[in-house]
Amino acid sequence: MSRIGIIGTGSMGSMLTRKFIESGKVSPGDVFIYNRTPEKMNDLVNNYGAIGCAGNGEVAGRSDIIFLCVGPDEVKDVLPEIRPFLDGKKLIVSIVSDVPLKKLSELSGVNVVRVIPSITSEYGAGVSVLVFGEEVPQFAREEILSLFGSISRSYVTTEDKISLLSDLTSSSPAIIASIMQQYALAGVRRGGISIEDAEFLVRETFTGTAKLLSGNDYDFSSLISGVATEGGITAEGLDVIEKEIPEVFDNVLSRMSEKHLRVEENSL
Ligand SMILES: NC(=O)c1ccc[n+]([C@@H]2O[C@H](COP(=O)([O-])OP(=O)(O)OC[C@H]3O[C@@H](n4cnc5c(N)ncnc54)[C@H](OP(=O)(O)O)[C@@H]3O)[C@@H](O)[C@H]2O)c1
Repeated sequence: MSRIGIIGTGSMGSMLTRKFIESGKVSPGDVFIYNRTPEKMNDLVNNYGAIGCAGNGEVAGRSDIIFLCVGPDEVKDVLPEIRPFLDGKKLIVSIVSDVPLKKLSELSGVNVVRVIPSITSEYGAGVSVLVFGEEVPQFAREEILSLFGSISRSYVTTEDKISLLSDLTSSSPAIIASIMQQYALAGVRRGGISIEDAEFLVRETFTGTAKLLSGNDYDFSSLISGVATEGGITAEGLDVIEKEIPEVFDNVLSRMSEKHLRVEENSL
């Protein structure tokens, strides 16, 4: 396995560092990390054995695959710092939203892979969406797929689809949690139940629903029809959902799509 560099150990960079090490795909002594606020590296260095570096250049110099885990506004500071340490054998994996492959390749001079990971990898679940630059060699593709396959399902796509797929995957935990919260709040507005109890009931039911869906017995449609018998109580609620929710979700995706474009325009 290659030596891995992680630039930016915020929530996603630290999650990837921990999970890659825990997966056993990479040994801690082959993981080189740096964060602008160095204290954020402490846990990864002291408890996971990652090697803390003095700067982004050192990470790039000591690694074969360099993960960019900073915000979209911060890429323009990082790339010039690491470029002198890059050669044609090195690979950049960018998890940064809305900074295109072409710009990343031009500014780094090396092959680039874009990945949209998900916070659900914390539990080895969910989907990582990957787009490979055209020139990325087969062995490197396999290594990246193996790494992300150890912490999630992998879904390879083309760059024109990455924003939409990121909305359906990495944004989804927040969207789903918000829907659950709104359902619990509606229960509270009906009266007679505390928010704590309503959230407990909905959360536990959601967890059970996710388990039902993760097996082979149900897909969305069969689970819906299995619970909502025709003419029954649940069918009344579903009727409202089917009439009113499509427009809501069209608006959700539309607003996120507009934001992707604005972030891309301002990123580099
Ligand atoms: N969160 C998600 O679920 C998710 C999912 C998919 C993709 N992403 C993408 O992943 C990227 C990181 O997201 P995040 O949620 O992990 O953000 P975050 O928690 O803010 O982490 C970004 C980290 O980058 C560090 N950093 C900034 N500039 C740096 C520099 N010049 N050199 C070294 N480190 C630097 C920051 O350090 P400081 O402590 O000094 O600020 C911070 O710790 C974003 O581009 C985001 O779009 C996020």
